[in-house]
Amino acid sequence: MQQDKDKYLKVKQYIMDHMEDYTSREIQYMIENYDQGKRTRFAPDVLRQIYDTLDITPDKDNMYKGFVELLKKNYDINCDVVEIGGGVIPVVAKHIREAQVTGSVTVYDPKISRVLQNSDGYTLKREMFNDRTDTGNAKLFVGFMPCQATELIIRKACENNADFMIALCEGGHCEYDDYFDEEEWRESMRYLARRELDKNKIGTLEETDLKSFGDPYPVIYSKRRNFK
Ligand SMILES: C[S@@+](CC[C@H](N)C(=O)[O-])C[C@H]1O[C@@H](n2cnc3c(N)ncnc32)[C@H](O)[C@@H]1O
Repeated sequence: MQQDKDKYLKVKQYIMDHMEDYTSREIQYMIENYDQGKRTRFAPDVLRQIYDTLDITPDKDNMYKGFVELLKKNYDINCDVVEIGGGVIPVVAKHIREAQVTGSVTVYDPKISRVLQNSDGYTLKREMFNDRTDTGNAKLFVGFMPCQATELIIRKACENNADFMIALCEGGHCEYDDYFDEEEWRESMRYLARRELDKNKIGTLEETDLKSFGDPYPVIYSKRRNFK
């Protein structure tokens, strides 16, 4: 369809206009596969973010918007929210900010595009989030396939008596060579999350998914319980 062709040509143009945001490997892959969204809803993150930015993905297939709906359903998002591993174009953070009435979003990722700018209540931190990062009064920590930062998000949220929701991915990549099995890695994250939620008297670990949006992996999140 001509309309589809035009939409995807805009993706190719976007890549050409923003080459400085990507590694040469990413550029090569994206140029060769810029129209991957026609064939799958589970394109790599760098392409998914561009599809979202150019409004190519319909809402019913947009896993980032699905994730924000899950956040809205389970928490009051009108608070200080921290996103870790937002990627080159942090679209989850953008959609959270759009949905907030009050509060703020701070997103961490050294890869965040230089073209993007801070705005009122929306702070881009082009740095690695680590154990010493001061998250102020953040009440909600989120990660969308944040790879090796998953463990850190769970620990920092619980340490700060905050809630967390994480869309898991296939694993922590190179940092987790010991976990040759993806499910083994995810199970270790569930174990850690349950332990931290219990230790910090926050509540229980819940699980859902975004399969209807084409995301094959689970989403884990904290559920608050009133401890006596
Ligand atoms: C698979 S990408 C996901 C990007 C985005 N959330 C998405 O799904 O479109 C994982 C991202 O996590 C970032 N990341 C990993 N560890 C991090 C840390 N400690 N602090 C900030 N970003 C981190 C990487 O730079 C990468 O951009």
